[in-house]
Amino acid sequence: MASLIEEIRALGTQALADIRAAASLEQIEQVRVAVMGRKSRLTQLMRELGALSEDERRKAGMVLNEVKDAVADELKKRRAALEAAARAREIAGQSVDITLPGRARLFGRRHPLVQVRRQIEEIFISMGFSIALGPEIENDFHNFAALNFPDEHPARDMQDTFYLPGGWLLRTHTSPVQIRAMLATTPPLAVIAPGRVYRADADVTHSPQFHQVEGLLVDRRVTLGDLKGVLEAFAHRMFGAQYQTRFRPSFFPFTEPSAEMDIGCVICSGVGCRVCGGTGWLEILGAGMVHPAVFENVGYDPEKWTGFAFGMGIERIAMLKYGINDIRLFFENDKRFLEQF
Ligand code: DAH
Repeated sequence: MASLIEEIRALGTQALADIRAAASLEQIEQVRVAVMGRKSRLTQLMRELGALSEDERRKAGMVLNEVKDAVADELKKRRAALEAAARAREIAGQSVDITLPGRARLFGRRHPLVQVRRQIEEIFISMGFSIALGPEIENDFHNFAALNFPDEHPARDMQDTFYLPGGWLLRTHTSPVQIRAMLATTPPLAVIAPGRVYRADADVTHSPQFHQVEGLLVDRRVTLGDLKGVLEAFAHRMFGAQYQTRFRPSFFPFTEPSAEMDIGCVICSGVGCRVCGGTGWLEILGAGMVHPAVFENVGYDPEKWTGFAFGMGIERIAMLKYGINDIRLFFENDKRFLEQF
């Protein structure tokens, strides 16, 4: 009898040790089956209790129950501990690894034409010009007549100008904003007018819709020297002070005299190449002294007021500045192109 109780206690001690040694939920289950399962020694001893006398059965039964409770208790505790550890491991595996490099955010950026337009605006604003805007749908008066275009001038031809019903047209240049600015204010004034313009023309350097910046300065005793000084300062700030500038005589109905300004070729630095046609020079804008007839058309006294005007294409400036050889790239919105600016 004493040896039976001893065996029960020994079984219990061993079982508790096995339970504590179990390192996983699978192992704890194996231990449970081995210790408490139908074929375990403990279960077998339970069955054998029946063969004992009543007094012995009571004593041995008490010890057996004590051991069984202790084992069941320990199994529960160990299982809970192992489950908690498994959960903790799982959570640890899911946590954010803050040492991983981040994924770069894609940033949008301004379209190259907008960048160039803003640069042009900033340069002239710093010289005291302000910005004037006008409509893209114009009439003959603002786009042509007031700018001293004769009735038979080829620029009015259907081939260049997009005409709309009712005598309207899509402005072919930003020069009509000169007229609007002068009609709206009394001199002196100094404005630039950026905006969209339209011409029925399309190839690698012409787009049916493109952008220009117009400039106009009116004051007393304005000279060609003022014009040259302002435009040379502009060219040097836009392209770099290393480039030479030159003025060639030209013709526009709304200026007299008229000129075109060139800068030393930005591609070959004046040596001569395909882009500058071997001349070493690139035309960047048209300009001139405001024609007295234009002043009369807006009610300014040409004896009292003098002024200069200029106009440039934003696409052309951008193409020269960045060495772009096809104007259509600006309007295709290919990310591979836009990302380079
Ligand atoms: N309007 C002209 C064009 O579209 C550009 C131009 C030339 C504007 C001379 C001017 C100027 O104000 O004085 O080609």
